[in-house]
Amino acid sequence: MSDFSYDLVVIGGGPGGYVAAIRAAQLGMTTACVDLRGSLGGTCLNVGCIPSKALLQSSEHYAEASDGLAKHGINVGNVGFNLDTMMDRKNEIVDSLTKGVEYLLKKNHIEHLVGRGRIVARGVVGVTLADGEELLLKTKRIVLATGSEPSVISGVEIDNRNIVTSEGALDLRAVPKTLVVIGGGYIGLELGSVWSRLGAKVVVVEFCDRIVPGMDGEIATNLQRILRKQGLSFKLGRKVSSAIVKDSMVEVSLDKVGDGSSEHLSADVVLVAVGRKPYTLGLGLEEVGLKTQDGGFIDVSESFETEVPGIFAIGDLVAGPMLAHKAEEDGMACVEAMAGHLSQLDYRKVPGVIYTAPEVAVVGQTEEELKKEGIQFRVGKFPFMANARSRVIGATDGFVKILAEEKTKLIKGVHMIGPDAGTMIGEAVLAIEMGTSAEELARTCHAHPTYAEAIKEAALAVGGRAIHI
Ligand code: NAI
Repeated sequence: MSDFSYDLVVIGGGPGGYVAAIRAAQLGMTTACVDLRGSLGGTCLNVGCIPSKALLQSSEHYAEASDGLAKHGINVGNVGFNLDTMMDRKNEIVDSLTKGVEYLLKKNHIEHLVGRGRIVARGVVGVTLADGEELLLKTKRIVLATGSEPSVISGVEIDNRNIVTSEGALDLRAVPKTLVVIGGGYIGLELGSVWSRLGAKVVVVEFCDRIVPGMDGEIATNLQRILRKQGLSFKLGRKVSSAIVKDSMVEVSLDKVGDGSSEHLSADVVLVAVGRKPYTLGLGLEEVGLKTQDGGFIDVSESFETEVPGIFAIGDLVAGPMLAHKAEEDGMACVEAMAGHLSQLDYRKVPGVIYTAPEVAVVGQTEEELKKEGIQFRVGKFPFMANARSRVIGATDGFVKILAEEKTKLIKGVHMIGPDAGTMIGEAVLAIEMGTSAEELARTCHAHPTYAEAIKEAALAVGGRAIHI
């Protein structure tokens, strides 16, 4: 057993943990980052955001070549694809990005330890290396950044063949004939889109009476309509009671929420995408008397310190949206607060993006939330059908919707579905962050012809003076 000493030990090398470690090193702390995976980047880089976006891109190219290019006068004949090549490309991207993070840790003189980290006591982290060797790291502070794992449902056992979580659905060796997706959230809709584009018959089963609960209702309705046009089908208000594998097929039983009537579906593959829960297994929380709250979350102060002094927690382990970029912000704010910087986070200003085609991107409050809070507001909307660039590109589905407070015209929420919405939401995040009014956004010059003009027009529409509709 060997002993080492640090200012900070971060357990978990995902977007929350590795960013916290780099920021700590920049601030002059001697830092170690422990992660049990051989490659850094956590769920996001290894089995989440990055591989899913690689497959979304490849499958979108295939869909475009199959029936999108003909209207441009481009004839490509019979279009096919090679799933192995697609998977190899995805794996290479993951590999290069995780190596990039490894390089960044090295560059910042951060000790990277591959092994399972756990709290032994306040100020002591134990690490079990792959070869079984045990290390003890003495440290002034500990940041817990172990992220989350997929939630499971009773009666549905993951076998990683016919019944998979997102990780398995990113690595299928063949296109399933039928794919039942349990959960109409971010993962279900993105991975459902991938396999639908590649030829699977996809049925999304959702417990609520709408998809993406929590998002603006109008956006959800439009997204569902667009995805239906693309071939996905939906069973809303249904709870999966069991999924049983028989002769390499899965028999899925659904109960209609409310009346309890049952129906059955048969699928080659079932994807369980019903949310995620904090991953704290074997982390040693109990060693220091650290309790988890409902859903397994760890309570922290504004500076991310747990009830045990010197132990901090960030990212998916704590409250707020379970998103990579939110975890990064947590990591920065947590470490900066340790160094005495003022660092405050408002999770209502964290954008969310669903990388379907078209993309959905949102920030701030929804219409439903504003109504619930009794806030008087105005809606400014602009459809991409009336945006010149969208017409040129041939991406006219969707709209931008801006919600502004009636009296002050301050922007409270921006919700869009449309081409490149995930990139465009940046402007809206900045507007909300800076306390911008719809009037100020409307008076901001936007380049022509760009998709972003739809944001300006939606801001003009708040005052009833959009030009192009
Ligand atoms: P989610 O919370 O987005 O959606 C889960 C859905 O499953 C909900 O609509 C819920 O009502 C439904 N559900 C729950 N139990 C059910 C049941 N028994 N039967 C039928 N439906 C049921 O969770 P998801 O999609 O698993 O994603 C996990 C996390 O990963 C989320 O927090 C999400 O934000 C994040 N993520 C973000 C992405 C992005 O930023 N583009 C991409 C993928 C995941």
